[in-house]
Amino acid sequence: AHSAFTYIDGVLHAEQVSAVSLAEEFGTPLYVYSRAALTDAYEAYARACAGRRASVHVAVKANGNLAVLNVFARLGAGFDIVSGGELARVLAAGGKAENVVFSGVGKSADEMRQALEAGVKCFNVESIAELDRLDAVAGALGKKAPVSLRVNPDVDPKTHPYISTGLKANKFGVAFDDARDAYRRAAAMPHLEVVGIDCHIGSQITEIAPYLDAVDRLLALVEQIEADGTRIHHVDVGGGLGITYDDETPPDTGLFVRTLLDHIDARGHGHRSVFFEPGRSVTGNAGILLTRVEFLKPGEEKNFAIVDAAMNDLARPAMYQAFHAIDAVVPRNEAPSVYDVVGPVCESGDWLGRERALAVRPGDLLAIRSAGAYGFVMSSNYNTRPRAAEVIVDGDKAYVARPRETVESLFATETLLPD
Ligand code: LLP
Repeated sequence: AHSAFTYIDGVLHAEQVSAVSLAEEFGTPLYVYSRAALTDAYEAYARACAGRRASVHVAVKANGNLAVLNVFARLGAGFDIVSGGELARVLAAGGKAENVVFSGVGKSADEMRQALEAGVKCFNVESIAELDRLDAVAGALGKKAPVSLRVNPDVDPKTHPYISTGLKANKFGVAFDDARDAYRRAAAMPHLEVVGIDCHIGSQITEIAPYLDAVDRLLALVEQIEADGTRIHHVDVGGGLGITYDDETPPDTGLFVRTLLDHIDARGHGHRSVFFEPGRSVTGNAGILLTRVEFLKPGEEKNFAIVDAAMNDLARPAMYQAFHAIDAVVPRNEAPSVYDVVGPVCESGDWLGRERALAVRPGDLLAIRSAGAYGFVMSSNYNTRPRAAEVIVDGDKAYVARPRETVESLFATETLLPD
């Protein structure tokens, strides 16, 4: 745990900066990230990997803000990307292509070209059809594409069905039983170079056991693939380590990394490199979303606190019924009432928190916690709502990492029909 967002003299602060002053200066809704919290979360991985054959590739999808990526790049992080757009972000943020792994089920030929030209470390390929496409694209460029296959180990990570990705019945990866043959085919393709094996079993996983099961299955496969004459240099265990939103108790990052690395060593595979692809666990609790109460609306069955942030700003509650803790920025010494915290968007699904005991009045600020991962990146302009600003706090200073969008910019490129 870290102490980046704490109360000082009764006011929530991001590091040394008061959330009240942030809201006044930059407006709400406002994403606030802590450089120290980002650094601590990343360093927990890096420290546990130090001196081992292991490296960390931060999943850009969780938080793609350039300043955030730059914090990680300066710490020497690699990155896991799922689009050409994310590759462009990584490069613009000072990340190195040679430390990038390219995941995703639907890479276009253009994205493959872009990644081959940039020189990414590895393509995590998810189907035979994708192997064929990559082989053709690499051939046309006169290059060899480094590949690993994302294998679906079919373990149950016991997480939300929308974010569990390693079970048989989903679109990700090559089925375990087909993987050996897929590797034979990959090895025979002239413009591919098999370098590793990959899996990603889900997200917000709060136990180590499913990872150990997945690794065991992967290593058994690696032995078969090597018996077929193809060397596997690295094992990518994916991302997915959970965080505390409410009362979850995920393993500590250092323990998680060391347990996996020790397990792989003990199985006699310590000579291979191990890649981690964390997203949520390096950014989730390094950010909050500040919002202001517009109205309190008492009702017969429910009280509503209508705030200026909405599902377009933070989609997770509406999309996954996800829980985010919500706290008053300046708690009042009054008896709390129970509210559903909802946004202004015209959908019943537009809620941010349900049945929260809050002592609030209109105009008060609330902090929605754990918003650093899958927050801003999943935001939209639904209801023609400009997307929130993002600031990053470093000690006693706050930097605008992305200004608030203007309404004009939202339709600046739209045109009317001709006369
Ligand atoms: N690697 C791959 C191939 C992935 O698909 C993902 C996330 C990650 C790494 C990073 O996983 P993490 O460490 O963040 O769990 N929008 C959902 C989460 C979707 C995760 C998709 N894949 C949410 O808000 O909970």
